Amino acid sequence: MKNYIQTLPKAELHVHLEGTLEPELIFALAQRNGITLPYATPADVVAAYDFHDLPSFLKIYYAAMDVLRTEEDFYELTLAYFNRAAAQNVVYVEPFFDPQAHTSRGVAFETVIRGIRRAQDEAAARLGVESQLIMCFLRDLSAESAMAHLQMAEPWLDHFVGVGLDSDEKDNPPAKFAEVFARARALGLKLTMHCDVNQKDILDHIRECLDLIEVDRIDHGVNALEDEGLCDEIARRGLGLTVCPVSNRFVVQSLTGDEIRHMLARGMKATINSDDPAYFRAYLNENLEALVEEAGFTKAEILILTRNAFEVSWLPEARKQHWLERLAAMA
Ligand code: HPA
Ligand code: ZN
Repeated sequence: MKNYIQTLPKAELHVHLEGTLEPELIFALAQRNGITLPYATPADVVAAYDFHDLPSFLKIYYAAMDVLRTEEDFYELTLAYFNRAAAQNVVYVEPFFDPQAHTSRGVAFETVIRGIRRAQDEAAARLGVESQLIMCFLRDLSAESAMAHLQMAEPWLDHFVGVGLDSDEKDNPPAKFAEVFARARALGLKLTMHCDVNQKDILDHIRECLDLIEVDRIDHGVNALEDEGLCDEIARRGLGLTVCPVSNRFVVQSLTGDEIRHMLARGMKATINSDDPAYFRAYLNENLEALVEEAGFTKAEILILTRNAFEVSWLPEARKQHWLERLAAMA
């Protein structure tokens, strides 16, 4: 099974580039940028990873980003992720990034986007890993800040395929960003939003994503299973759900394997993703392997989940069909 997972060409639709910042790179960038870290070794960084819910994770995630300062830093971060992706036979990625987490520290939007884009171009040319970027807004910041960043992105519009919404979900509903997402849609961008597992008012948030924002995809969204109407609507629209099993285990002590199976049984297009792999210590293949080893997922189920990711991706139709045909040959 490990070999089968490795051999499958795969797509990843829910990975935060800042969440791929490995402890060794934190140290290398800190040294280059003259930053003193409160840790002696990369192992000490990992030892301090103490997440049990979204806020406790975000605190550590934002603190570590301080080492990302220059275009070269963003380039190295992104290229390191693509090297890992290539090694796991991940052939297509729609990575997230959080511009507000950098502009708020005095790093220019242009610095971030140039570094990421250079790594994307190199990964496509040299590693054969294609990608299209999703710009996320931080939902615990204001709608005005999100709108200002969308305006900042307009000269770079061809660098993005869509916009997303992440960070602390509590009391930050989709509706807060209705205007920003409507504007992004008018600019031709695809829309997705995090509906993190077991958040306050989560069913209302999922409903707003469907009825008010009219998203093209939902990130996480596992709680939709608690409401028949939501399940029906997600299935009817063919909306993808980017589920992150190992990430979920940190929050709900479960890979949510049963929930993933229920989604498939109800015709909901679940996909498997790594979320913040440097922090959760699991890239895409490790997430799939965990489902096999700990939740008994079969080859057929792994193939369906892999196929779903290409189906609900925002690839041009011809590229989508190319990969789906490759997968059909691996059944
Ligand atoms: N949820 C919300 N915000 C995030 C996440 C997540 O899974 N990862 C990075 N920022
Ligand atoms: Zn996420």
